[in-house]
Parts: sequence; structure tokens; C-alpha cells
Amino acid sequence: MSSPASILEVRNLTKHYGGVKALTDANFLLAPREHAAIVGDNGAGKSTFVRLITGAESPNAGEIVLDKEKVQFDSPLDARRQGVETVYQTLALAEDLDVPANIFLGRELTHLSLGPLSILNHKAMREQSVEMLSTTGVKIQDLSESLRGMSGGQRQCVAIARAAGFAKKLIILDEPTAALGVQETARVEGIIKGLKERQIPLIIISHNLRQVFDLVDRIWVFRQGRIIASLETKKTNPEQIVALITGAISPESVGEHILPANVMRGTQEAALA
Ligand SMILES: Nc1ncnc2c1ncn2[C@@H]1O[C@H](COP(=O)(O)OP(=O)(O)OP(=O)(O)O)[C@@H](O)[C@H]1O
Ligand SMILES: [Mg+2]
Repeated sequence: MSSPASILEVRNLTKHYGGVKALTDANFLLAPREHAAIVGDNGAGKSTFVRLITGAESPNAGEIVLDKEKVQFDSPLDARRQGVETVYQTLALAEDLDVPANIFLGRELTHLSLGPLSILNHKAMREQSVEMLSTTGVKIQDLSESLRGMSGGQRQCVAIARAAGFAKKLIILDEPTAALGVQETARVEGIIKGLKERQIPLIIISHNLRQVFDLVDRIWVFRQGRIIASLETKKTNPEQIVALITGAISPESVGEHILPANVMRGTQEAALA
């Protein structure tokens, strides 16, 4: 069979909180192996989009197609079990558990599993956690300590290591380096490049345009709860992106190739060809 036109296709995704239109009619596509960035001002709807496609919240309307199958995840764990790993902006980790327990939450390694009875393989989980964390370069003195005593950056590295280690179909990172120092940021960017080599599709939300232009193939611009543009990174520049984010220029003025509606149409035509 030929390769699918997209690994993720989102159609008309909408979420309103009372009178707040957090996201309206969002159409989005991610090609196989593609790394994409989502950019936009505070409150533009970026995190809402991520929560909707990963089962953290339910949309009011819209469809999500992952790897050619229509999906509606019940929870982030449901999404993780189906190969979609997410690092949320407000981290979803268990404060009272230690690092290995957080990394293997919901998919614990066992020596033996007999129905409801299982013997956890703590040694293997600990060893694999050390290995996963080493990719982020973060220093955590004692892995058996609960997360409660750790810094924001340390927690973020635990979440990123977990996501990168387990991602099979898709990885989504919502401002993954916002709380990190220069060195850890560079390591996380290295992890993202490693995911590109492993051909794992990725969506990153970032306010750091240097990072965005360094890392991704395509940039999606969100503005006031709508997706207004999708541009190939090599066909745009940071000034143009800033102008789209702030509304200084209209998407139409940049050229029709960038409009999501056209991206969608182009893909459908390609799929029909
Ligand atoms: N649970 C909620 N209840 C009510 N309003 C919400 C809720 N979550 C988000 N919103 C609103 O929806 C809009 C979009 O929020 P969202 O968090 O998606 O923005 P964002 O683009 O991720 O911003 P940032 O860059 O600051 O993270 C905002 O106006 C926000 O106040
Ligand atoms: Mg956000």
C-alpha cells in the first residue's frame, strides 16, 4: 500500500468555554515524519488544540484522524497507549511518585503478571529511567525521591524523557523548554533532532522562533482561536511569522499557498491522484 497522505488530520475542531471561543474550526495536517511548530500569542488556542487532540479534553465539534483511523481519546493515557505522547504545558505528572514510577505510569514493567497480581520490576524501570533521563542531561540526585521536591526544569525533563522514550506514532510538546536553562534547552533540542532521525512525527508549541526555525519543517500560526496560516519553514522567515502572529499582515497577503484550506485541498487532490 502507498504511504498515507498524513499521520494526523484534524478537521473543524472547535472548543468554546462558555463565551470564550478558545478554538474555532481548526483544520490541521501533519505529514508522515514531519516536524511542525505551532506558534501564536498567549491565549491563541494552542494548548487547547493540544488538549483536544490528546484526550485531555473533549471538543464541542470536529474530527481527528490518526494514521488513517478516526480517533477520540478518552484520556491522555488512552492516547499514550495508542502511540501518542504529550508533554503538556501544565505538566501532568504524579507529584507523590518518584521518577521511575512517573516514567512508567500506566505501563509498569513486571517480572510476572497473573491477572490482577503482578510483581513490578523496579530495577528495570529504574535502569531504563536513568537511561532515558541521560538524554536530557538533567541532573537529579535521587531518582527515588518524589517529584514534589524537584524544580520545574527537572520535572519538565522527566516528562520529555518519558515522551521521547515511548513515542511511537506522534509526539507533542507544549512549550517543552520554557522552564529550562540554556544547556538543558540545547539537550532537549538534540532529543527533538533525534526524533526526526527516528522518523517520529512531532508537533512543538514554542514562543522561541529561533528554536522553531532551527527544528521544524512547517509552521502553523494560531491567532485568536483560529488557525490562520501554515507555511513551509524554508519559504518564510521570522519577521513574516511575527507579522502573522500579531495581525500586522493578513494571511492572504503572504500568498495563497499558505492557507490551511489550500493545504487540505492539496492533500485531498494528492490522495485522489
Ligand atoms: N478551562 C478553561 N476555561 C475557560 N477558558 C479557558 C480554559 N482553557 C483555556 N481557556 C481560554 O481559552 C483561550 C485559549 O487558551 P490556550 O491555553 O489554548 O492558549 P495558548 O495559545 O496555549 O496560550 P499560551 O501561549 O499563553 O500558553 C484563552 O482565552 C483561555 O483563557
Ligand atoms: Mg499554552
